[in-house]
Amino acid sequence: MSGAKTKRPELREQRRRGRHRCWDHLIVAPLWVAYDANLGTLLRTCDAVGGCLAVPRTPHYRQALAKGDTLKGRRPCIHWVAPSKEVWLDEQRAAGKRLVAVELAEGATPLPRLEPARDSTVLLLGHEHHGIPDAVLAQVDECVEIPMIGWGASLNVAVAGSLVAYRLAGLS
Ligand SMILES: C[S@@+](CC[C@H](N)C(=O)[O-])C[C@H]1O[C@@H](n2cnc3c(N)ncnc32)[C@H](O)[C@@H]1O
Repeated sequence: MSGAKTKRPELREQRRRGRHRCWDHLIVAPLWVAYDANLGTLLRTCDAVGGCLAVPRTPHYRQALAKGDTLKGRRPCIHWVAPSKEVWLDEQRAAGKRLVAVELAEGATPLPRLEPARDSTVLLLGHEHHGIPDAVLAQVDECVEIPMIGWGASLNVAVAGSLVAYRLAGLS
């Protein structure tokens, strides 16, 4: 690192690839996530990995994302989930997308063994207190669990979603 000459602001500029283009390969779907800060963080992760964000079309999500959008308008595209989460999930399945849930669950794939996404994938994230509903978990193609060795029972949902999104995007 001693030979590094390029300054950080220049590096930031060099590494910008330009505006988001929706190519539907990875859609991060925090359909049950409630807190504004977590939604804002996930929006930035989508930008970083070239993914899209999908959230219910409700005033709560619109306001949370307007508040949490720190990307100065150059944010990734948002897919509005309507008329209901159930119908939208059925449509994604019918369109051939893989549904991957990030959740603590029996039989889940440990994160280090997760392969980058080859097919178009929807990444589901659960509520801060209640997780992903069991009925939804029963229908996903794969569930991913992030191993933890500490005392806490779970990670912050935006951290968990970001770790898995990076892996699916083939960037970690
Ligand atoms: C704070 S956790 C929910 C904990 C909730 N009390 C429960 O028991 O389901 C919120 C969300 O973060 C994600 N999450 C957090 N830690 C995780 C882990 N270690 N592995 C997989 N998903 C995790 C899941 O999507 C989960 O639904």
